[in-house]
Amino acid sequence: MLANAFVFFPKMKTRNSALRVLCAVLCAPLCLTALAAAPAETIPLAPPDLNRPAPLMRALADRRSIRDFDPAPLSKQELSDLLWAANGINRPDGRRTAPTARNKQDIDLYVLHPDAAYLHDASAPALKLVATGDLRPLAAGAQSAVANAPVILLLVSDFERFGNSPEFNKQRWAALDAGNVSQNICLFAAAAGLATVPRTTQLADRLKSALKLRPAQQPLLNHPVGHPKKAPAN
Ligand SMILES: Cc1cc2nc3c(=O)[nH]c(=O)nc-3n(C[C@H](O)[C@H](O)[C@H](O)COP(=O)(O)O)c2cc1C
Repeated sequence: MLANAFVFFPKMKTRNSALRVLCAVLCAPLCLTALAAAPAETIPLAPPDLNRPAPLMRALADRRSIRDFDPAPLSKQELSDLLWAANGINRPDGRRTAPTARNKQDIDLYVLHPDAAYLHDASAPALKLVATGDLRPLAAGAQSAVANAPVILLLVSDFERFGNSPEFNKQRWAALDAGNVSQNICLFAAAAGLATVPRTTQLADRLKSALKLRPAQQPLLNHPVGHPKKAPAN
C-alpha cells in the first residue's frame, strides 16, 4: 500500500511524508462521517401550531395506550407541538400547559433520541444536548420493544424546587405533577394520531447516571411516542 502511495504522490521525498499523506487521505472521510454524525448541541423547536384540528372530545374518545411503534422519526412540527402540549409555556408569565403544585414547575422533560438525549428548554423553546448515545433501552427496561419508538420522553421531577416542604408532600406533588404532564402527552398523541403509553417501567438508576442527574432529580415516568406501527398487509 505504501508503494501505491508513492505512485499517487510521486513528489513525496520520504516514506514518512507519503505515509502521513496516505493517512490523511484515508482518515478524512472517517472524520467527516464522525462530524456529520455528531448530535447537535441545540435543536431549536418551532412555535406550536395552535390551529391543529384537535377537538378535545375526539381526543378523549381516542386516547388509549399503544405499545407498538413505527420507528420513523416524528416531523419537527410534531415534536415541537408534542413538547409544547406536554409542558410548554402557554402564558406570558411563564406558566405551563400542565399545572404543578404551588406552580413549582418541577417536571423536566428529557427527550431520548436514537443518537442522543436532550433536555427540553420550554422558554427557548429548544432541546439542549445532555448525553450522547441511545438511552431509549434504559427507559424501555424490561419492555424492550418500546425502545423502537423514535423518541421516549422521560418525566423527571426536581424535588429541590419544592424547597424544604415535608418529604411526604414532595413525593405526592411530584407524582401528581408528572401525571398532569403525562395526560397532556396522552391527549396530544390521541389528537395527532400518534401512539404513546405512560410507563413507570424503566431502569431509573441507570438513567440518572447516564443523564448526570442530581440526587434530588427523580425519573418518575416515561412516554415512548411515535406513529403507530402499521398492521402488515394481508
Ligand atoms: C402510573 C402508570 C404507570 C404505567 N406503567 C406502565 C408500564 O410500565 N408499562 C406499560 O406497558 N404500561 C404502563 N401503564 C399503562 C397502563 O397499563 C394502561 O394505562 C392501562 O392498562 C389502561 O389502558 P389504557 O391506557 O389503554 O386505557 C402505566 C399507566 C400509568 C397511569
